[in-house]
Amino acid sequence: MTTAVFPGSFDPVTWGHVDIATRARAMFSRVIVAVAHNTAKTPMLDVGARVELARRAVSPLEGVDVMPVDGLLVDFCREVGAGVIVKGLRGGTDYDYERPMALMNRSMTGIETVFITGDNALSHVASSFVRDIARHGGSISRYVPDGVVDAVSAAVAAEERERV
Ligand code: PNS
Repeated sequence: MTTAVFPGSFDPVTWGHVDIATRARAMFSRVIVAVAHNTAKTPMLDVGARVELARRAVSPLEGVDVMPVDGLLVDFCREVGAGVIVKGLRGGTDYDYERPMALMNRSMTGIETVFITGDNALSHVASSFVRDIARHGGSISRYVPDGVVDAVSAAVAAEERERV
């Protein structure tokens, strides 16, 4: 029985993430979607909202849980007894971004990263695009699970209030 950790910012969760969680669950007996902090990014949604939306998105998937991560991913993996990290790849740019993290995580604790190719029909879907479309008044409903549209709309409205 192998537990896999699928980490990311999930800011916000998209159908692309759900696709990877679904594929990961077909390979591993338990999958933990780990909502982590990327120090290179300032999130649009706070961690509580990101966890809540991800929980709702994967709720139909038996054996897939969502947890926040505060600290190093490799320490979290050790705490939950995960034997592998899972990441989704949409293309070569993702691989170039993910490869050094996979090497660093392996160098720190020996944990391996398994890359899963996502559904090609979702290869253009990215949280960064979703945030940008929403900030410019476009519709994001095709790209995100239930609940995300309202949460992102509220976050965009809050950003606008802060600007004035
Ligand atoms: O969705 P993202 O922002 O590309 O995910 C990156 C993330 C959150 C997985 C990465 O920044 C991370 O693992 N953060 C936790 C802290 C950590 O372990 N940093 C060292 C990474 S080598």
